[in-house]
Amino acid sequence: MSEDAPPAAASISARGLVKHYEAGRVRAVDGVDLQIASGEFVAICGPSGCGKTTLLYLIAAIDRPGAGTLEVAGRSLTDLSNTEADEYRRSVIGLIFQLHNLLPNLTALENVQVPMLPTGRPPRQRRLRARSLLERVGLSDRENALPSTLSVGERQRVAIARALANEPRILLADEPTGSLDSKNGERLLELLDELQRDAKTTLVIVTHDPLVAQRSGRVLQMLDGQITNGPTSSLVRC
Ligand SMILES: Nc1ncnc2c1ncn2[C@@H]1O[C@H](COP(=O)(O)OP(=O)(O)OP(=O)(O)O)[C@@H](O)[C@H]1O
Ligand SMILES: [Mg+2]
Repeated sequence: MSEDAPPAAASISARGLVKHYEAGRVRAVDGVDLQIASGEFVAICGPSGCGKTTLLYLIAAIDRPGAGTLEVAGRSLTDLSNTEADEYRRSVIGLIFQLHNLLPNLTALENVQVPMLPTGRPPRQRRLRARSLLERVGLSDRENALPSTLSVGERQRVAIARALANEPRILLADEPTGSLDSKNGERLLELLDELQRDAKTTLVIVTHDPLVAQRSGRVLQMLDGQITNGPTSSLVRC
């Protein structure tokens, strides 16, 4: 690709996507067809165990599908090598995990800088950017804290700041308001609105929170590894 080429639109397209475990006994994702346009805000709802996290992990190229096709931001993710997957995640994806996954021996400020380490950004710029992200999630006063000394909601907010470190074109979030009080939940919703409006970020958010679903442009219902509502449905039922 030439250096002047514009970045491929950050859309997501899946056909017949499958991820089974335990020799097919567990059908975590079981034939998903999905079209998400660049800049869309989509919420994914559904009961525990229906395959929401597995689907996000496929889109993030943390896992590879067993069958079907998956294209994100113009790349096919089905046969990526591990190195290509690392580069893809670093340059395209911001991911907020269900269980935060902060590094326990690093401070909040250091955790936010981790995704920037392989990018060659100078240390001073890394620190300044991490600081401004922590400020955006309301944690300026806790930048030197270790994760074990932070509340669950504060850890969640560090994870949100970390996911935004490299200005991802696609933000994937797994229950991002799950452990936030209503004030911080509202703050996160405002941040998501801002990302969609100003940075044109594509947002795919797994949630049980009706407020998040209401803010999204479209809700996908999952059940037993499948998406059960139509491609244009905007029904809010989480
Ligand atoms: N590595 C794995 N090995 C075997 N089974 C797995 C694995 N990962 C997930 N599963 C199973 O796949 C199914 C879907 O799991 P997944 O984590 O995607 O559900 P979920 O919708 O995110 O649930 P929750 O709302 O509880 O987070 C579950 O039955 C789960 O036990
Ligand atoms: Mg999950």
